[in-house]
Amino acid sequence: MKKKEHNNQAPETHSNGVLTVKNVTKKFGPNVVLDNVSLTIEKGETTVVIGPSGCGKTVLIKHLIALLRPTSGEVYFKDRRIDNLNEQELNGVRTHYGFLFQGGALFDSLSVFENIIFPIRQHGKIGNWKEVEELVKAKLAIVGLDGFQNYYPANLSGGQRKRVALARAIALNPEVILYDEPTTGLDPIRSDVINELILKLQEELGVTTVVVTHDMTSAYKIADRIIMLHNGKIVADGDADHIRNHPHPVVQQFISGQVSEDDLAILRMSGSISQAQFLPRDFEA
Ligand SMILES: Nc1ncnc2c1ncn2[C@@H]1O[C@H](COP(=O)(O)OP(=O)(O)OP(=O)(O)O)[C@@H](O)[C@H]1O
Ligand SMILES: [Mg+2]
Repeated sequence: MKKKEHNNQAPETHSNGVLTVKNVTKKFGPNVVLDNVSLTIEKGETTVVIGPSGCGKTVLIKHLIALLRPTSGEVYFKDRRIDNLNEQELNGVRTHYGFLFQGGALFDSLSVFENIIFPIRQHGKIGNWKEVEELVKAKLAIVGLDGFQNYYPANLSGGQRKRVALARAIALNPEVILYDEPTTGLDPIRSDVINELILKLQEELGVTTVVVTHDMTSAYKIADRIIMLHNGKIVADGDADHIRNHPHPVVQQFISGQVSEDDLAILRMSGSISQAQFLPRDFEA
């Protein structure tokens, strides 16, 4: 697997990247979530985005598929600018993407089979039913769940649901897969199954992969490149060793799971826990 250094300067050109974010600022009211971020993601690479909760990781990857539009700046899929396309135009572009969003929502009222063919239906690609059945079987086999076609999400474990969501994400043979917290809520072994699947898809199908995670074990295992977001900016960008040895204290605090002095100051200022607790009498009639 290739490992290389990246700088996070604005790209001179977006023509080498599969996904390019150019000088993107995203504000929600006064809240500046992305502050003039530039990033080029190259074909076949796995890029992992890390950073504290609320720092804008989900907002960033939603821009990559134009589920959110920048306040200013541009986003490209290959050479095509996508941030200014209408929903109908985007529908075509999005057939090249698979995505597994936070919560991994499967449709509870649909069987595993129906969940997986949902994107195929949505993009009007259903032809021969036999072929569709074979396709669902093949996608489920990739995630180790062939035979679960008639199950409903309620009857699956959390790990199985993530794997079905992954099978759905790859239903249209995407060139790009975006994963938002794919291992959250899973035990270490189930998490590692997801890591292995992410690696397998990247290695066997050559997909360009972007993964948001808090899980550094997963990040080190799957990443060609790790990007850390902090205060709306990219503060670190490089391979696993670059991140492990990064001099920025915010990076070291994050990867070692330490509480920062700022966070401690907030905790010290907040009221005592006993004052904030309900007492049994609070529930009495
Ligand atoms: N649709 C929205 N409207 C207003 N504010 C939003 C919206 N989406 C996100 N935000 C704000 O943008 C900031 C970044 O949110 P985001 O969901 O990207 O964080 P995150 O890094 O993915 O966090 P987590 O690790 O908890 O998932 C937060 O302050 C959030 O409140
Ligand atoms: Mg998020």
